[in-house]
This record gives sequence, structure tokens and C-alpha cells, in this order.
Amino acid sequence: MDLGLADAATVVVGGSRGMGLAAARCLADEGARVAVVGRSRDALDVAVADLKNRGSPEAVGLAADIADPGQVDDAFADLGRRWGGELNVLVNTVGPGAAGTFEDLTDEQWRQAVEDGAMGMVRCVRAALPLLRKAQWARIVNFSAHSTQRQSVMLPAYTAAKSMVTSVSKNLSLLLAKDEILVNVVSPGSIASESLVGWAKSVGVDGGDPYALMDAIAEHFGHPAHLPRAGLPEEIGPVVAFLASRRNSYMTGANINVDGGSDFT
Ligand SMILES: NC(=O)c1ccc[n+]([C@@H]2O[C@H](COP(=O)([O-])OP(=O)(O)OC[C@H]3O[C@@H](n4cnc5c(N)ncnc54)[C@H](OP(=O)(O)O)[C@@H]3O)[C@@H](O)[C@H]2O)c1
Repeated sequence: MDLGLADAATVVVGGSRGMGLAAARCLADEGARVAVVGRSRDALDVAVADLKNRGSPEAVGLAADIADPGQVDDAFADLGRRWGGELNVLVNTVGPGAAGTFEDLTDEQWRQAVEDGAMGMVRCVRAALPLLRKAQWARIVNFSAHSTQRQSVMLPAYTAAKSMVTSVSKNLSLLLAKDEILVNVVSPGSIASESLVGWAKSVGVDGGDPYALMDAIAEHFGHPAHLPRAGLPEEIGPVVAFLASRRNSYMTGANINVDGGSDFT
């Protein structure tokens, strides 16, 4: 199936690692121009070389901390100059840390969760909108989490920030419908990205084994899936690429679970 992404101007915020990189790879595979945003220059350089190898006609790494409004504005201004003031696709993948029960979390940790988990996305959408509006077609894909639909006592602040992402995305889908800019959310289940594999290591589990990882998730967070294993970042990328594509012409305001099966309502 041709997704209609050839030569599309796309950006993946948080695209240097994990599910963001997996999504960026799928966009590159489809022949899109792909910019990836992250803080580490080294990680961006590795990602850009990979995206070029996969066939992206133009891959760019933009170093920016999305906690800093000035850096966000500079990154999107740079992108606008490079790509003729137009952007077809914005994917926001950056999320918060903030594990801890309600009684453990400090005000600062709550504030940080909202800052890292949602305000960065808000800033990136705001900075990207003039570019998205100028393009012939445009899509936004934001990352939430399955925990918004199935609570864990270990994740109240994380989940609150992710619920904000879902809510703002639905509001944006309404606001931007008249411009035919489609806005959707992907809610991953337990996915063996570097951050989750790193957490597994910290509790003495081999996160490289998706079956052992799922057992640890079920034990620590109460989040088993129907499938007996954790997912892999490359299982999220194609879903993001479809939502971000011209082939997705009638889905907007949707929240798509990619979670190995669950009893979500
Ligand atoms: N893994 C899971 O099981 C799971 C489950 C549900 C939802 N999610 C959500 O899915 C999304 C992706 O998760 P992941 O585990 O794949 O991510 P990850 O491996 O931790 O990658 C995070 C990416 O974001 C960048 N980043 C982080 N903070 C940034 C900042 N302030 N400014 C700019 N870039 C920043 C990182 O690069 P630098 O560090 O170089 O900046 C990296 O490219 C997150 O929103 C997460 O909450 C994950």
C-alpha cells in the first residue's frame, strides 16, 4: 500500500531513540523527508545516518530541548527555512518519567510530569501550526499511554500528563478539522524501548527478553497484556506512519491502542 508519504516534510519530536526513531524509520522507508528532534547531538547524528540509509531524501537532526520555548521556536523556524515554510507531518513522542505513588510524589514531580509529558507537545504543535497550515495536507500524531485507560497506583502523575495529551489532541482535532488537519493519538502498551529496558535492568530483570519484561510489568505496575510479551518499538512505527500519512484520510480525534490486547472499555 502506498501511504502517499514520498517527499512529504515530516518531523518526529523525540525521534532519536525508541518508538520515535521507529516511527521516523517508517517515514523514511516511505521516502519522506524526516527531521528528528532530541537533546543529544550524538544520538541525532546516528539516527540521521540511519534514516538516510533507509532512503529518506533529506534527513535532518535538530538539537533542541522542548522544555525550553525558545529552543522549540528556533527548531521549527529552522525547519521552515529548510523546507519552504511547509510541514506535512508532526509526530510528538516525548514523555515524562514520574513513577511513584500519589503519596510519594512532590509538587515538583507533578509539575515536571506535566512539563515533560504534555507542555512540550503543546509548544511543538503551536510552533508547527503555521507550517502545517501552509501545506497542502497535514497530520499530527501525539503519544499518550495505555495507562490513561487502565490505572496503575505507581503512575498517577505520568498518567495525568498523558491524559492531558489525549484531551488536548481531541480538542485540536476539533479545532483543526476545518483546515483538514487530522490529529490522532497512539497509546502504546508496554513496549521494550530503551527507557523501559533500562527500568527492567534496575529491578534485576532482563528487559531484552520481551516475555520476562511483560512478567515484570505485570508484577510492578499491574499491567499485563493478552499477548504474553512486551511489544517492540518497531511494532509501533507502522501504526504511526499510517496515521501520519495521506492514506489516513478520515480518522481524526482517535486514540489508538497498540498494547498487545487488553480489557480497555
Ligand atoms: N515504553 C513504553 O512501554 C511506553 C508505554 C506507554 C507510553 N509510552 C510513551 O511513548 C513515548 C515514547 O517512549 P520511548 O520509551 O520510546 O521513549 P525514549 O526511548 O525514552 O525516547 C525518548 C526520545 O525523546 C527525546 N527527548 C526526551 N526528552 C526530550 C526533551 N526535553 N527535548 C527533546 N527531546 C527529548 C529523547 O532524546 P534525548 O534524550 O537525546 O533528548 C529520545 O529521542 C513516550 O511519550 C512514553 O511516555 C511508552
